[in-house]
Amino acid sequence: MAKTKSVFQCTACGAHAAKWAGQCSECDAWNTLTEVALVENSASSSRFVNYGKNLGAQRLQQVSVETLERSTTGITELDRVLGGGMVAGSVILIGGDPGIGKSTLLLQAMTALSQKHKSLYTTGEESVQQVALRAQRLEMIDSELELLAANDLTVILNQLQSLKPEVIVVDSIQTLYTDNLQSAPGTVAQVRETAAQLVRYAKQTQTTVILVGHVTKEGSLAGPRVLEHMVDTVLTFEGDRSSSFRLLRAIKNRFGPVNEIGVFAMTEQGLHEVSNPSAMFIQRQQPITAGNVILATQEGTRPLLVEVQALVDQSSLGNPRRLTVGLESSRLAMLLAVIHRHGGYSLADQDVFVNVVGGVKVSEPAADLAICLTVISSLIDKPIDEHWIVFGEVGLSGEIRPVQRGQDRVKEAAKLGFTDALIPAANASKKAPAKIKVKTVKTLLDAVDLLFS
Ligand code: TYD
Ligand code: MG
Repeated sequence: MAKTKSVFQCTACGAHAAKWAGQCSECDAWNTLTEVALVENSASSSRFVNYGKNLGAQRLQQVSVETLERSTTGITELDRVLGGGMVAGSVILIGGDPGIGKSTLLLQAMTALSQKHKSLYTTGEESVQQVALRAQRLEMIDSELELLAANDLTVILNQLQSLKPEVIVVDSIQTLYTDNLQSAPGTVAQVRETAAQLVRYAKQTQTTVILVGHVTKEGSLAGPRVLEHMVDTVLTFEGDRSSSFRLLRAIKNRFGPVNEIGVFAMTEQGLHEVSNPSAMFIQRQQPITAGNVILATQEGTRPLLVEVQALVDQSSLGNPRRLTVGLESSRLAMLLAVIHRHGGYSLADQDVFVNVVGGVKVSEPAADLAICLTVISSLIDKPIDEHWIVFGEVGLSGEIRPVQRGQDRVKEAAKLGFTDALIPAANASKKAPAKIKVKTVKTLLDAVDLLFS
């Protein structure tokens, strides 16, 4: 093995320095010096070797492409988010808040995978006994899965040489360290260096590597953003700790679509897949009160029905409150102005609270119409009939604009027994399902007339 030492490198200009300093002596940038490993290498063992065999430049049409070999994890929701299973040699980063269920999800996936593929689960956070105990609780103890408790990357790489697993999990990248660097585990330098070595291992040996990463308070993956650039797939595991729903989302995927979601429920027996999430998110109170409507939204390729609630109340403040949970608050401010100018309802002296039930986040403009209608419903205290679903973008002149995949949304609503859909005129189709009556609208006023008069 080549001898290594570490130096400090400026992330702005790339200059090297033997000692850390607050300011780079070359380019005068502040706080840019980070520790990097420097290898006094012989040419053959460079840290920066090619991932594949070096064949020189090749014509695109002559490059031999084998079809991607994907192995299914046994968890359908996870496979879908990955784009149809794990690709050999790919590196997957899965991030999420502590305690959200990352280790549980991966332990379930790995015990299932180990039936067909040699798999190794390395943990730097728990002992192997703890992992085994959890597996026992999940009734998955009877498994071929190999476990390793280690924080030292060299120990892990040595195990990999002897075991030669096809899939490995590293839980978590923040607990790993390499002796090449003096900084503590979890620092930018350590995370970057250990991840780089694992990525290289994955590409050279066609092993699938799954890295677990913790999320900082601000919600970004701890460690450098560069981690997201280095890996092939970035998944986030999110959910409200107070509810049992968990969403797995792909935010980068070199081998499949992004924005696909997988829905899980955390139970006593670990994570259960939810194949019909719409049914789960809409458990409505009876009787239906004012300020509730079902929105047909879209997550990835999947239509999803969620309940949007609004509460409008006389404000005692000079500056009334506008609060949203699961929606963008700037969008609400804009919609309130549209409701005033084009719907004829003033909310200037009212507090407005809007919430998406079940901890779901909706960021698409297709939620506009649902927001406007629940707010008006709460303001005038008239419930919207429970058979309705709505979707549509509301423009600044009060016009209702079309949204993507309108018909998929209508079909999902019909499947779940809704009988009326209020949709943008431009989304109308002759092939609407027979079980649902579709009403199209062109303006916010049309929609208000239809529901409340
Ligand atoms: P864990 O997978 O350890 O989270 P992470 O690795 O993301 O930090 O999940 C821990 C939480 O999940 C813990 O609060 C307990 C809960 N849990 C269950 O509710 N049921 C279960 O069967 C398991 C294994 C965990
Ligand atoms: Mg964990």
